[in-house]
Amino acid sequence: MAKSRAVYVCQNCGAVAWRWQGRCDACGEWNSLAEESGGGSAEIARRAARGRVFELEGLAGQGRPAPRIATGIDEFDRVTGGGFVPGSVLLLGGEPGIGKSTLLIQACAALARRGARVVYISGEEAVAQVRLRAARLNLSDALVELAAATQVEDILATCATGDRPALIVIDSIQTMHTNMAESSPGTVTQVRASAQALLRHAKTTGATIVLVGHVTKDGQVAGPRVVEHMVDAVLSFEGDAAHHFRMLRASKNRFGATGEIGVFEMTGLGLAEVANPSALFLAGRDAGAPGAAVAAGMEGQRPLLIEIQALVAPTSLGTPRRAVVGFDQNRLSMILAVLEAHGGLKLGMHDVYLNVAGGFRADEPAADLAAAAALVSSLTGAVLPPDMCFFGEIGLSGAVRPVIHPGMRLREAGKLGFRHAVVPQSQQISEDARAAGVTIRPCADAGGLVAAIARMSTREKTVAHG
Ligand code: TYD
Ligand code: MG
Repeated sequence: MAKSRAVYVCQNCGAVAWRWQGRCDACGEWNSLAEESGGGSAEIARRAARGRVFELEGLAGQGRPAPRIATGIDEFDRVTGGGFVPGSVLLLGGEPGIGKSTLLIQACAALARRGARVVYISGEEAVAQVRLRAARLNLSDALVELAAATQVEDILATCATGDRPALIVIDSIQTMHTNMAESSPGTVTQVRASAQALLRHAKTTGATIVLVGHVTKDGQVAGPRVVEHMVDAVLSFEGDAAHHFRMLRASKNRFGATGEIGVFEMTGLGLAEVANPSALFLAGRDAGAPGAAVAAGMEGQRPLLIEIQALVAPTSLGTPRRAVVGFDQNRLSMILAVLEAHGGLKLGMHDVYLNVAGGFRADEPAADLAAAAALVSSLTGAVLPPDMCFFGEIGLSGAVRPVIHPGMRLREAGKLGFRHAVVPQSQQISEDARAAGVTIRPCADAGGLVAAIARMSTREKTVAHG
């Protein structure tokens, strides 16, 4: 038999090289190649010897919707598409410390309380640590079976004894290793082989397996992106350390939609569901000050009202500052250029700061109009009415362009007590959405926005002085 030859696998992108080299040719990362043993060619040829013939089927036919095991945590079930599908494997990604283990121990306990057998395997923490967390969360009474283990074969053998578990949590996939691969723990090959063994177990036994994966700063599930292709659903848990809210979203889901988001708040008693996220993001809003505008945004399939704050102040520097938090720097530059070119504003001698309140990121172009309104409000000192919200994309020509889901935005605004919405003039709005109790104020272009805000400030002054 041919001796199996060593290969070098990039731990960043998974590319394979035959010699060690300092830099990966595929992704350009330095020092990322690690030696892993490849299968000998004779062995592979033998395995590939002969295939069996199987039957092919047509598209039409009997198919039942996948059964679901709901945890009862609505914000979680919403994102998975109504609960766990038996036999599926989910990957939960997130930065270290964001609350993945907390979320999963809560989901485990909720499911166990509904009578399901649930196994939680921690590869990172000792059993005592997991117990301590469960005690803090008042979950000690739930019948979750715990172990600290990292050897995949041992874990699967343990899970195969007794009743079939409905849910197995592996925290985290990066700590697992399997006898099926020879390379050292933590390498791409180990992670891939471990995930494959777990996947096989899920498919054959019908258990749902959740794999935790740590994500690096640039948002990749660290090293093993390879795992993302194999699993049925990829969920990510996001938020930032300075704020309490956390957002769960699906970037891939073979059994459901990917637009749904779940919102949680990290409290002293673990993660609490936030049924009304707009209220959370608008809490503590100072509605009487200039420079604040509410954007009727969307996060996936969910409408979300957020406050955008702007500060425009005369600069003392040669080059004025433009700083953003939670907003795209390039979009701010574009909006400023449009306001100068088509709105007649002079911003060249002003520092500009733009902040999305609550630590939220406003990524969609529909937030342009609210950002522009906040900027104009801060520059002119005009206070925007507290019950007014905005949505619309601003183009380079100055035109305000229609955006998706106007109805959902308007209904959410109506629900939260907003009475006026500034929307693109060309936006089609259904009768149903008009019934949300929000007065529609069409806006054609950036010039129109500036004029309307100027009118608001003069009206206010007349009221004040008259
Ligand atoms: P954890 O679930 O361990 O994060 P991950 O598994 O993603 O690394 O949670 C880490 C943080 O959550 C920790 O810094 C403390 C905080 N936390 C709370 O604020 N309240 C709680 O009840 C718990 C359990 C954790
Ligand atoms: Mg953890």
